[in-house]
Amino acid sequence: MPREIHGKSIIVTGASSGIGAATAIECAKAGMPVVLNARREDRLRQVAEQVERHGVKTAIVVGDVTDTGISESLLDAAEIELGGLYAVFSNAGYGSELPVLKTEMDQVRAMFEVNFFASLELVHQAARRLVEQSQPGHLLMCSSCLAKFTMPWHGVYSATKAAQNHLCLAMRSELAGRRIEVSSVHPVTTATEFFEQSARRSGKGKRSDVLEHVPKFLIQKPERIARAVVKCLRRPRPEVWTSTLTRTFAAMATLSPRLLELVMRQQMRKMNSA
Ligand SMILES: NC(=O)c1ccc[n+]([C@@H]2O[C@H](COP(=O)([O-])OP(=O)(O)OC[C@H]3O[C@@H](n4cnc5c(N)ncnc54)[C@H](OP(=O)(O)O)[C@@H]3O)[C@@H](O)[C@H]2O)c1
Repeated sequence: MPREIHGKSIIVTGASSGIGAATAIECAKAGMPVVLNARREDRLRQVAEQVERHGVKTAIVVGDVTDTGISESLLDAAEIELGGLYAVFSNAGYGSELPVLKTEMDQVRAMFEVNFFASLELVHQAARRLVEQSQPGHLLMCSSCLAKFTMPWHGVYSATKAAQNHLCLAMRSELAGRRIEVSSVHPVTTATEFFEQSARRSGKGKRSDVLEHVPKFLIQKPERIARAVVKCLRRPRPEVWTSTLTRTFAAMATLSPRLLELVMRQQMRKMNSA
């Protein structure tokens, strides 16, 4: 039986652009009131306008996901302004395009703070509230296909995404008897501001190496991920994938690390000759 999600609220972090913005709008189409979070208030207000066109309420919580107390503010906004907490899509995150040896430890820690620890804190606190109230719910984290394998220059980023994936799998089993679903979302290359941001953080200005090297047929639109997230809210499953090809590659890379090594070396050659 599909779950009824109409009228049930969702918190979306990283809702000012890309996958988060598209998911907030798709959730609104399904009748879900949305708490929107990110740091850029002007962009959040634009997304809120689009969400409200579908006849649902929004609440905006501006701030960095690593700010002290922000998880509580997000959960309070869902409960007080939107009438109750049901789902969380912990999506705020960023990447970099740097070899591990060129990444400073403070950069590694900063990325884990946003991509992993802030994500953990939000779903952790949401789960505690749902358990205390004996309410059903659904907690989702935006991980990546790179949770299952990695690529040169994406080692630190993929480590943050693998950490999210493992956490979701464990929490899913731990909360199974409480009607609280936990899912991880594994997008492939998605055309968002992500690559511009990661190039900037890696000291390359706006030029990203990634989009140039990924075959066009593997680049998806954020709306595709958003639809898959809403489908998962209706019919919960452990993991959300939008590319069967990449999922198959991930499985093969697990079975044969040698295969992954060959692909990665080819990738390195392309990047070095660019
Ligand atoms: N694009 C891809 O190819 C791809 C593939 C796999 C997984 N993902 C994952 O998808 C998620 C969304 O990325 P995207 O592709 O949609 O990129 P995006 O367009 O750059 O969106 C990232 C969002 O996160 C927010 N954000 C970043 N750092 C934040 C912080 N410290 N506190 C609060 N909000 C923060 C940004 O908003 P503000 O700047 O306004 O704060 C923005 O709304 C990320 O977790 C990413 O790892 C992306």
